[in-house]
Amino acid sequence: MDESLETVLVEFDEDSGVGTLTMNRPDALNALSAQLRDDIVAGLELLEEQNEDADGVALRAVVLEGAGEKAFCAGADIGGFSDESAGGTSARSHYDVIRDFPAPVIAKIDGYCLGGGLETALACDFRLASESSTFGFPEVNLGILPGAGGVQYVTKIAGPAVAKELAMTGEHISAERAGEEGIVNHVYADDEFEDEVDAFVDDLAGQAPLAIQAIKKSADMAVHSGLEEGLAYDNQLFQELLKTEDHAEGAAAFAEDREPEFDGK
Ligand code: COA
Repeated sequence: MDESLETVLVEFDEDSGVGTLTMNRPDALNALSAQLRDDIVAGLELLEEQNEDADGVALRAVVLEGAGEKAFCAGADIGGFSDESAGGTSARSHYDVIRDFPAPVIAKIDGYCLGGGLETALACDFRLASESSTFGFPEVNLGILPGAGGVQYVTKIAGPAVAKELAMTGEHISAERAGEEGIVNHVYADDEFEDEVDAFVDDLAGQAPLAIQAIKKSADMAVHSGLEEGLAYDNQLFQELLKTEDHAEGAAAFAEDREPEFDGK
């Protein structure tokens, strides 16, 4: 499936089950206009439709990337700021839709990842960056703060000192530093970036999809809840997964010393 929305390209590869959304405003460094935010939501909905007639789970992972050579996303579109908040135009913001999306979403970051672009990456399940990428919250230069939870999320990941440094100075940090702080999962050499991301995504797409969905829910719940509530929730997810065909397949494959084939059933 290949579809062009106004500001987002949507692709789905049936063989691997991997969907790709490309934010396509390279001349504006993929700045988040209202249209782009709506198109990210619409693109995710199109990808989710791949599961509708599937026997099991067809969509195994989504890669979110930026078009052009320079940026993942340079943040909110500064030109379109005054008429809307940084949180999205429609009922649910693209940040929430990414967070709640059943398949894991991987931010593939090659270049600037700033402001709302960094908040978008933080909403994803994984952040994979090329070594020449840079990260920052430049909002303070406009007299505002990151409006979609950027300080909250970086504080949870890297602690308040790092969050304050990013948001109060507005300075960019290197991918290497972002990796050290846990803000990105992996930093790859520029010339190995494409291959490394493909390998990471393919591995993820081959895992048992219902388990992946449950793990995403569990980790996100841990961010928002106390430990006791989280442990009870994990136990409930565990009991549900024990009943799946994927679990039976995984156990059989282990016993038979072969690779499992998961269908998401
Ligand atoms: N919103 C709208 N347009 C943006 C943008 C943004 N957030 N970031 C970049 N652009 C546009 C620039 O206006 C420029 O457009 P033009 O070619 O029509 O003049 C184009 O993208 C390229 O940007 P440019 O500034 O020429 O590239 P650069 O490599 O010299 O600098 C940045 C890159 C990212 C450092 C710089 O563009 C910047 O600081 N952008 C603003 C980032 C920001 O504050 N984001 C948070 C907003 S809350």
